[in-house]
Amino acid sequence: MKTAIIYRSHHGTTEKVANLISDALGNGNTHLFNLKTDKNPDLSGYDRVIIGGSIHAGNVQSKVKEFCNNNMLTLLEKPLGLFLSCMEEQKAQEQFDRAYPELLRRHARSCKLTGGEFNFDRMNFIEKMLIRKISGISSSVSKIDREKISELVGEMSA
Ligand SMILES: Cc1cc2nc3c(=O)[nH]c(=O)nc-3n(C[C@H](O)[C@H](O)[C@H](O)COP(=O)(O)O)c2cc1C
Repeated sequence: MKTAIIYRSHHGTTEKVANLISDALGNGNTHLFNLKTDKNPDLSGYDRVIIGGSIHAGNVQSKVKEFCNNNMLTLLEKPLGLFLSCMEEQKAQEQFDRAYPELLRRHARSCKLTGGEFNFDRMNFIEKMLIRKISGISSSVSKIDREKISELVGEMSA
């Protein structure tokens, strides 16, 4: 079964999660597409699709939204997984619901909040200041949820 994993990542968390999913599914039949460089991946050769993005200032990357909207009909024809990286646990579900269109969320075989990270080494000065002010955190922290990743892999393989 050929799988396309499509993602956008600012500081590397979603890319890390996409790679963990790819490793768990078996790399031979999995292709990773970074929407930063692969603007509009062709899904025709893939049996199933997994999409991931991350939240900044409440919203998922516009490239993720555009990809979902531009490929809606194709995505509705294939087994679909959706995941999201974010750090505000209380707002996570609401952010997820805003990130992905309702039609795709209803169709998806698996929808997972896979945790997040604050990666200070990759933030610019303003981002560091913002995160310190909003969260009180001032050094890198990883809260990637490996259990949710396993659940997604299991549900996509079922
Ligand atoms: C500038 C900035 C703003 C963020 N805003 C939010 C937010 O509004 N809600 C949230 O849950 N997480 C927020 N986060 C946390 C990110 O979602 C988290 O760092 C995630 O792991 C980023 O994934 P990425 O490296 O794949 O882009 C923010 C992080 C940064 C650096």
